[in-house]
Amino acid sequence: MARILITSAIPYINGIKHLGNLVGSQLPADLYARYQRGRGNEVMFLCATDEHGTPAELAAAKAGKPVAEYCAEMHGVQADIANRFGLSFDHFGRSSSPQNHHLTQHFAGKLADNGLIREVSEKQVYSNADGRFLPDRYIEGTCPNCGYDKARGDQCENCTKQLDPTDLIDPRSAVSGSTDLEVRETKHLYLRQSALKDELDKWIDSKTDWPVLTTSIAKKWLHDGDGLQDRGITRDLDWGIPVKKGDADWPGMEGKVFYVWFDAPIEYIACAGEWAEANGKSDADWERWWRTDKGADDVRYVQFMGKDNVPFHTLSFPATLLGSGEPWKMVDHLKSFNYLNYDGGQFSTSQGRGVFMDQALEILPADYWRWWLLSHAPESSDSEFTWKNFQASVNKDLADVLGNFVSRITKFCRSKFSEAVPAEGAFGPEEEALIADLTTRIRAYETHMENMEVRKSAQELRAIWAAGNEYLQHVAPWTTFKTDPERAAAQVRLGLNLIRLYAVLSAPFIPDTSARMLSAMNTLDTSWPDDVAAALSALPGGHEFTVPEVLFAKITDEQREDWQARFSGTRA
Ligand code: 2FM
Ligand code: ZN
Repeated sequence: MARILITSAIPYINGIKHLGNLVGSQLPADLYARYQRGRGNEVMFLCATDEHGTPAELAAAKAGKPVAEYCAEMHGVQADIANRFGLSFDHFGRSSSPQNHHLTQHFAGKLADNGLIREVSEKQVYSNADGRFLPDRYIEGTCPNCGYDKARGDQCENCTKQLDPTDLIDPRSAVSGSTDLEVRETKHLYLRQSALKDELDKWIDSKTDWPVLTTSIAKKWLHDGDGLQDRGITRDLDWGIPVKKGDADWPGMEGKVFYVWFDAPIEYIACAGEWAEANGKSDADWERWWRTDKGADDVRYVQFMGKDNVPFHTLSFPATLLGSGEPWKMVDHLKSFNYLNYDGGQFSTSQGRGVFMDQALEILPADYWRWWLLSHAPESSDSEFTWKNFQASVNKDLADVLGNFVSRITKFCRSKFSEAVPAEGAFGPEEEALIADLTTRIRAYETHMENMEVRKSAQELRAIWAAGNEYLQHVAPWTTFKTDPERAAAQVRLGLNLIRLYAVLSAPFIPDTSARMLSAMNTLDTSWPDDVAAALSALPGGHEFTVPEVLFAKITDEQREDWQARFSGTRA
């Protein structure tokens, strides 16, 4: 049994995420986690809310709440929606947890001990109109790298370059829009990433199986221009993890906090500690996932994230881990995604454009969305959500192919035999051909899933569903029944067993529907079809079942138009 550690990029606490966020990390991570569990592997799947920094402060101020209270509330909201979307985290933690405070301060202390932190007296932007320093996202301006005019103080979302606020051209306050800004002196800590450049370079070179999207972004920031820049890891903010050197105070750093991008990835580790605490486990129980000296050397660690997160995960976070000089588990495979666009434009949290997770669930159950999003995941390029395409996929793949198959075979059996698997008849050449075809396809599906090729996996699964429909169409038990009821019985037995097989294979994509299929087939047998012929005899003659309710309702043109109109504007 393999042991697989999976993390999804941790979503910012400020508000409910849109479908573009969902498909860029949490959902494909869940697909992979469910698949690996289905294969009998031991999985630790972690996610959390990213609660520090300016996004949280700004959102809390807007909501008129103290930031700690706002975060606690929004964590509950996000956890509930994640649960309703079937995201099967082993733990959904909080970057503001005591565990993360402790670990973040611990890492900073180790990095300092190892000479990898330097103190810098820095000039920072101060807004006279706002009466405060303006870090990160409180400043907008033009990107010095690509010229994008809405770049933020921490990163340009157009070209992904990591920025410092003073890099911006024509800066303005994101709080007030004021351009009455001046530069003042303040002391900060810098992580000496440049000292770790060769080590990082070597480490990335060893990752020969990483997607091009991932390595090209990492290599770009390692080698472009002046190469890897040292990075400020502290901020003049109230909300965050206080700057400390391990447990000790850090002279000169009073009143400052760590930069959100320093503590956020450390939460991946802290989250395992939170999991242990929440489940009455010991430190050893979480450390066996994260410390290579305590059992994590045989763990495979996979991260999921959007492309804008890649620099932090290939450079900054590894620099923290390597620089600590301690045996922490480093990522083995990093799966990154492009962007999902919405109906001719971009999804946007700040503008409230697109469909948000809570709204999606108000109109349709999670599996409809999961299927569309995963089968259209923005892997090799950006992809686009349109209501037409959504309607077409749901109606064709889910209703016509899978839903129809299940309904047809169960209803036919009930009407001509009974609500029990028919025992008569034997499999013949048609069934053997189907088994051979399915075996090939299931092995291909496994390969795509192992490789985290999300779209290819969905395509193969759809083909597996279609193969069942084609078989039924071809052998036509409703016709066979008139002349050879025994033969029809064998065909129906195969069809009913296919439902269980489909439920097992489809569970990572559409877990609720899979559970309904298994429940209709009255079985708890979720064993993986290593041997397809054996899997298609799992439900023996005489095994009782029930005809399930319609699995997927078709989306009507009227609904589509209605939803399109409803989600054409922006959300308040
Ligand atoms: O881009 C984002 O949504 C960030 N909150 C992701 C952080 S991932 C990690 F570093 F923890
Ligand atoms: Zn740019």
